[in-house]
Amino acid sequence: MSLKNVRLEVMSFLEKDVESLIKKYLIPVETIWQPTDFLPNSESDTFIDDVKEIRELSKELPYDFWVVLVGDMITEEALPTYESWLMDVEGINQQERNGWSKWIRHWTAEENRHGDVLNKYLYLSGRVNMKEIEQTTQHLIADGFDIGTAQDPYKNFVYTSFQELATYVSHNRVAKLAKAKGNKQLSRMCKIIAGDEMRHHHAYSEFVERIFKVDPSQMMLAFQHMMKQKITMPAHFLRESGGKIGTIFEEFSNTAQRIGVYTSTDYVDILQKLINRWEIDKITNLSDEAEKARDYLMKLPNRMMRLADRIKIPENSYQFKWVEPAKL
Ligand SMILES: [Fe+2]
Ligand SMILES: [Fe+2]
Repeated sequence: MSLKNVRLEVMSFLEKDVESLIKKYLIPVETIWQPTDFLPNSESDTFIDDVKEIRELSKELPYDFWVVLVGDMITEEALPTYESWLMDVEGINQQERNGWSKWIRHWTAEENRHGDVLNKYLYLSGRVNMKEIEQTTQHLIADGFDIGTAQDPYKNFVYTSFQELATYVSHNRVAKLAKAKGNKQLSRMCKIIAGDEMRHHHAYSEFVERIFKVDPSQMMLAFQHMMKQKITMPAHFLRESGGKIGTIFEEFSNTAQRIGVYTSTDYVDILQKLINRWEIDKITNLSDEAEKARDYLMKLPNRMMRLADRIKIPENSYQFKWVEPAKL
């Protein structure tokens, strides 16, 4: 049987449990938080005062902070790219409305609230150039992405397991920075988003765990493939208005590293967490090739940590069009 057909078979074997995994990892619409729970109520008489308070507190936060929050928001807003990508993965059949496509729709519906709440907050903050941000978002959705997973469910679930944990780390760090500057409201907002990302991370990790049980060698090779080519961030094609595709992603990523929101050490930590979570050292029934992949993966965090220690981040901020320059 071809590799593709085995994957289709595995996906359809696991599909019967997806309904219960949706219940385990996602929260019903009526009980989950909504953006309005963390924003001023525009029907209330106190709305204008509440907005003034947001604007005052926003003055306390530095340029780099806003760049990172904007970049995170734009990454969330490019959700149409992620949904359409995942719907196209082998075994996730939108026509048949099977358990997998239901998962993708429900996951998307939860994720959609992240860009929504961040966008509204940034709009009210008075610290950012919304039109520039909107143009970057439109560019990013138009440019799409290529994360090197093809339509392979194994590779895609490694990617999403990694990526959900990465977004947990970054939203959680932003929450801590906001709290340190006395901005409790923004901190609570980013913390609750981080909570969603963590649930999603656990879900995708369980998908991979279940695949390891039925197709260990191919799952191992897929994991190795993804780590060899490195996990590309979903906003890697980021550009500003008038700019060329992908030209500012590195500047954004440098800014996030500089303020400690997401660093190369975090990348290695996430990899190590995945190795531990999937108990890569204990998996049995591997082909020779998959045994070699396991060895490669087990040694990778140490190797990468040595490299991460050597990376130097430029100290000067790039001037993004999204945020007014810091006032001295
Ligand atoms: Fe998100
Ligand atoms: Fe997410």
